[in-house]
Amino acid sequence: MCGIVAYIGAKEPLPIVLDGLQRLEYRGYDSAGVFISEGTKQQITKVVGKVAALREALSEKEVLTSKLGMGHTRWATHGQPAHENAHPHVSNSGDLILIHNGIIENYDILKKELQQRGYQFQSETDSEVLINWIEEVQKTENVKLGKAVQLALNQVIGAYGIVVYDRRNPEELVVACLGSPIAIGLDKEGFFVGSDATPFLDHTREVIYLDDNELALLQPGKTIQVRKIDDDSLQTPTVQQLKWNLENIQKGGFPHFMLKEIHEQPNALRDTLRGRLLAEEGKIQISSFNEHHQKFANARRIIIVACGTSWHAGLVGEYLIESFARIPVEVEYASEFRYRNPIIYPDDIVIPISQSGETADTLAALKLAKAAGAFIYGVCNVVGSTISRETHSGMYTHAGPEIGVASTKAFITQIAVLTLIALKLAEIKGTQSKSELRQLLFELDSVPDQLESLIEQKEKVKEVAEKIHAAPNCLYLGRGYNFPVALEGALKLKEISYIHAEGYPAAEMKHGPIALIDEAMPVIVIATRKGHYEKIVSNIQEIKSRKGVIIGIVSQGDSAVKEMANYCIEIPESSECFTPLFATLPLQFLSYYIAVLRDCNVDQPRNLAKSVTVE
Ligand code: F6R
Repeated sequence: MCGIVAYIGAKEPLPIVLDGLQRLEYRGYDSAGVFISEGTKQQITKVVGKVAALREALSEKEVLTSKLGMGHTRWATHGQPAHENAHPHVSNSGDLILIHNGIIENYDILKKELQQRGYQFQSETDSEVLINWIEEVQKTENVKLGKAVQLALNQVIGAYGIVVYDRRNPEELVVACLGSPIAIGLDKEGFFVGSDATPFLDHTREVIYLDDNELALLQPGKTIQVRKIDDDSLQTPTVQQLKWNLENIQKGGFPHFMLKEIHEQPNALRDTLRGRLLAEEGKIQISSFNEHHQKFANARRIIIVACGTSWHAGLVGEYLIESFARIPVEVEYASEFRYRNPIIYPDDIVIPISQSGETADTLAALKLAKAAGAFIYGVCNVVGSTISRETHSGMYTHAGPEIGVASTKAFITQIAVLTLIALKLAEIKGTQSKSELRQLLFELDSVPDQLESLIEQKEKVKEVAEKIHAAPNCLYLGRGYNFPVALEGALKLKEISYIHAEGYPAAEMKHGPIALIDEAMPVIVIATRKGHYEKIVSNIQEIKSRKGVIIGIVSQGDSAVKEMANYCIEIPESSECFTPLFATLPLQFLSYYIAVLRDCNVDQPRNLAKSVTVE
């Protein structure tokens, strides 16, 4: 996630901005930049890489003494990590400067319109489009910056947290946000701005958090002015006194990044679906599919290669694609695939899935398939990562940076991308009727909100964790779409709590694992109403008669499983294909709370690395 820092006031801004950017490093980023200004003089410095490199680049310059500074760390979404894509961005006239967090969905349309009016672009970013759109509005309406920003934002679809500066009016900064937070720090001499409060915690503890759809004018010496972007109404902002320490703020008040990232899932999912799922129009829009329409229409087979959690998402993808698009899918551990001389046809589509985009085995599997002539369509989270660069085409998950070593939001968003791919393929192949597709799109559209309500069940999950955290082993069972979720639940528990856990297709239990069941064995069973419910109920009966401790993940209003299970967590009723998106959440919470109760290092479990770049 990008980071924003700005300062306007009597203090020297550059150290504030650079130290602030350093504090935002925890958010993850691939390039950084600063802008400083003194009267008519301005300087922009950008680097691909870390804030340390930015400091070095600045040390080689004669730096202005200034009154205003803006800084940004960029996590690439539109365009690779590159000097020209790094922020701050400057408008065509050179008058307006912008730093931006978020995604402008309709940037393509705005860009075309601006190009027709003679605007030129140096970068591939949506942010550069935004600053030029503001410039165009300012010119045509002949208004001050604040008004121009407000009018321009009313024409923008997407999410943003922005800071804008007009060099013709150096005493003012304009900030605004929608879906991407902006914190404003106040002191007697000036204003601090951050994407959270960490950058300015040393300077002030008085902070205003802008609400969504708000715009503020920051003019040192004057009272802050906050307005609603859509209806221009004046707001009275609440000044809060921050009591949190730095670490608390970086984790958004959560004790661990993993917990924060579990909570971020509804929003991560919204980002994944944004601009792609057009439920009202009954359409899925994936631009890379248009470019390669023939490849997808003619695909004989899809091979998914991945490792760990991403492999589990791949398994869900297999169920989705085979069921909706009727194209055969194979899901391979990348580490096995690369060494087993696999058969690859030129009309195969190979989908490497990777959060980091750097996993050595997945990369090697990709290269092997590419050399054999297959079309490589990647699913990655990190923009510009090695895997994303090696593919012919693909989709980003837009989960934002994942810092906890145990993958959470990456998994959910990978499943969402695979759902979009499956439904798009179904549309192309005509394997689902228009009305069926439409129904599914509406349902998918509602998942983020429902996931938000599901988070409220976490206290119940915590109670279960308290009961079973001392168990030495756990079994996870699921069928169909939820078999991979059982695998993922078991992996999460192993990773962060060091409890031995196994995931199994429920019906396989009687072929071996049933021997393990006794009163000391917690068995987590995903038993949603849609999808082999009766069969799972009989599996549960088998566990009960062997005295296993049953934890059911059930659909809302379930009664049969509740009668037999020791504990039950309800998830929203949904079509079977969407149950993984819901069933995963309680399993993540369960492993999290168990790990905490066992006093384990949740964010950095022993022996594990976030990115496995070696074999
Ligand atoms: C588990 C986990 C790992 C990764 C695996 C692949 O929580 O994080 O199993 O899923 O190392 O990593 P990526 O997706 O980066 O290729």
